[in-house]
Amino acid sequence: MSNDLLVVSNVSKTVEDVSGRLSILIDISLSLGVGQTLSVVGASGSGKSTLLSIMAGLDAPTSGEVFLGGINISKMDEDERARVRAAYIGFVFQNFQLIEHLTALENVMLPLEIAGGNKDKDIRVKGTEILRRVGLGERLHHYPRFMSGGEQQRVALARAFVVNPKILMADEPTGSLDHATGSRIMDLVFELNREYQTALVLVTHDPLLAKRCAVSLTIEEGRIANSPALKSFE
Ligand SMILES: Nc1ncnc2c1ncn2[C@@H]1O[C@H](COP(=O)(O)OP(=O)(O)O)[C@@H](O)[C@H]1O
Ligand SMILES: [Mg+2]
Repeated sequence: MSNDLLVVSNVSKTVEDVSGRLSILIDISLSLGVGQTLSVVGASGSGKSTLLSIMAGLDAPTSGEVFLGGINISKMDEDERARVRAAYIGFVFQNFQLIEHLTALENVMLPLEIAGGNKDKDIRVKGTEILRRVGLGERLHHYPRFMSGGEQQRVALARAFVVNPKILMADEPTGSLDHATGSRIMDLVFELNREYQTALVLVTHDPLLAKRCAVSLTIEEGRIANSPALKSFE
């Protein structure tokens, strides 16, 4: 267990609103090792994005614990969690979430600038290199609104990988793309994952895409529904 990058232990998430208590996640346990690939499938509203947010330390569980690199992030305050997250996790989303007033290169340089300790010239070189790697060497100074969805997702991937994350978390990364573009993006995700030896947690609606991961988890109404795949995983 101690070698596991990510351990989720008996995590539940409950929210309260005017209509009462709502259980979003119920007793979720899983683990992910270095370089492993895991997909999370399930109907809309089953709790996939909530689970991803908790695993990334963007959100806290109501009960249970999350360990990133052996560090218990469940007990940390937001600032501490943000530091651990920056060191471990890259994120890509369905709607890309690029910063509109920054160019492709500036978007990719941003996480390195936030991390600090890098010279501006090195940051620029690194950003340029990874944008070339994802096929956008000719789009360095484009703003997101002048790029196609596939190009924007490539920028988002470059931004996620530029800090050498240990885990890439992808929440329906092809959900806004046509089929052909989506499959090229997923090919790129798997290539980058191998090159950077990054583990992958992929949330997807698409069962074929899910099968490209070594382990596939199904979430139904906040619970893990399929144990067979998990057994081979543990
Ligand atoms: N902060 C919240 N407050 C109330 N309900 C929430 C909150 N976050 C998520 N939910 C609800 O929890 C369920 C799971 O949401 P989500 O994790 O986004 O599902 P998925 O990503 O599988 O579509 C949904 O019914 C959603 O409406
Ligand atoms: Mg979701």
